[in-house]
Order: sequence, then structure tokens, then C-alpha cells
Amino acid sequence: MKIGIIGGTGDIGEGLALRVSDKHEIILGSRDPAKAVESADKIKNTLKERGIDGNCRGTTNEDAAKAGDMVVISLPFQHVAPTLAGINPDCFKDKIVISPVNPMVRKNGCFLYCPPDEGSAALAIKKMLPESCKLVTAFNNIAARKWSMLDCVLDYTVAVTSDDTDAKMQVMALAQQISKLQPVDAGGLELAGIVESLTPLTINIAQNNKLKDLSIYMR
Ligand SMILES: NC(=O)c1ccc[n+]([C@@H]2O[C@H](COP(=O)([O-])OP(=O)(O)OC[C@H]3O[C@@H](n4cnc5c(N)ncnc54)[C@H](OP(=O)(O)O)[C@@H]3O)[C@@H](O)[C@H]2O)c1
Repeated sequence: MKIGIIGGTGDIGEGLALRVSDKHEIILGSRDPAKAVESADKIKNTLKERGIDGNCRGTTNEDAAKAGDMVVISLPFQHVAPTLAGINPDCFKDKIVISPVNPMVRKNGCFLYCPPDEGSAALAIKKMLPESCKLVTAFNNIAARKWSMLDCVLDYTVAVTSDDTDAKMQVMALAQQISKLQPVDAGGLELAGIVESLTPLTINIAQNNKLKDLSIYMR
């Protein structure tokens, strides 16, 4: 499968690409295609050192969206609307779009969940995409550094929400292929805010308890 990552040069984009480009064709997008090519080369080299053949290339955000069968929006929330506004909506037509986006602000040294008027990043992003898009939230609660440390087993829970059951199952199947991730059905998109809000919780707990890169495992 081809997976396009908008904002693919960031921490989550690169981390996700590191973990899946041995199984899927990854197209990293950026505002600056040269930066995306650099990221893709870095990922392929890291994998090559381990004898793994990574299928990853860099390009513009629009090309990444166009090329992907699935598209991940891996941007800080405040950059999602302007970035999507600059991409031809046809690039997303009928596709599964994954949002790991958590809207947060830092105030007095701690992180607050700060959703838009729609109630969550997911519900706001849904309005920015063509109706035929199947929006799925996933990977919201795993710290980027865990993705990037290839020796780190990702034995975490991935709470997945969507209003499209088939799309949700396809994203859960993708998550299942990564390390020891445990995808679970967290309900419809209207529940996405609950999942998004868990990330500032983990960051605050990490800060207050001198812990690092907390991620969530439910059992
Ligand atoms: N970091 C984590 O641990 C973590 C964990 C779970 C979920 N998330 C969520 O995943 C999403 C991505 O997080 P991240 O940490 O990967 O983000 P990031 O590294 O801060 O940024 C991702 C990419 O956004 C692009 N960008 C930066 N400023 C921009 C602007 N003004 N306009 C358009 N694009 C811009 C950059 O790409 P170019 O410069 O190449 O265009 C950058 O590489 C966020 O919504 C976050 O809430 C993060």
C-alpha cells in the first residue's frame, strides 16, 4: 500500500515511516521537497544499517496526498487548515485519511487540551476534507521518540475512532503490523476528542514525575 504523509519530515511522520517503510511504500510530504528527500534518505539509511530495505521517498505535501492510498496528516493542529487549503481536494477523494493530531497549548508550564469549536481536531479536520474522505484517528497517544527508537518495542494501545467501519478496520490492520501495537476500536469520530485529550495528560504526568515519552497501554 502507498501511504502519503503530510508533514512527513516531523517527529511522528519520520517515526511512522521508519516503522512501516519495510512493508509499505511511504511518500513523505513537506513544504520543502528537498527537506522531505533528506528525511526519506535518512530513514532509508537507518534501515539499511540494519539490513532492511526501506521504501520511502520525499516530495511536496500535495504530491504525498495525491500518491497515497492512505494519507496521514502529521502536522501540529494550527498548521492543518492552511496546509490542507493549499492542496487540491481531489488528492483526498475517496481515501482513508489518518489523523494523529492532538490540539494542545502550553500554559504555566503544563499542557492543556485545547480543541477547536467543533469539539476535537478530528471533527474540525473532517470539515476541511472532501465528503468522500474516510477520516480515522489513530496513533494519537504514542510519543514520537518511541517511534524513532527502532529497538524499542511498541507495546501500546492504539485507540482508533472513525465513522466508517471498513476504514477503521483497515487502519487497525495497519497498526497491527507495527511492532506490538494493540489497536482497539474506540468508537465513532465524535469520541476522538477523548483520545486526543489523553496525550496532554501523559505529557503532564511525564513532566510531573520525571518520566519520559510516556505512551498508553490499556489492559
Ligand atoms: N510528537 C509526538 O510525540 C506526538 C505524539 C502523538 C501525536 N502527535 C501529533 O502528531 C502531529 C504531528 O506531530 P509532530 O511532533 O510530528 O509535529 P512537528 O514535528 O512539530 O511538525 C510536523 C511537520 O509540520 C510541518 N510544519 C511546521 N510548521 C509548519 C507551518 N507553519 N505550515 C505547514 N507545515 C508546517 C513541518 O514540515 P515541513 O517543514 O517539512 O513542511 C514539520 O516537520 C501533531 O498534531 C501532534 O499533536 C505528536
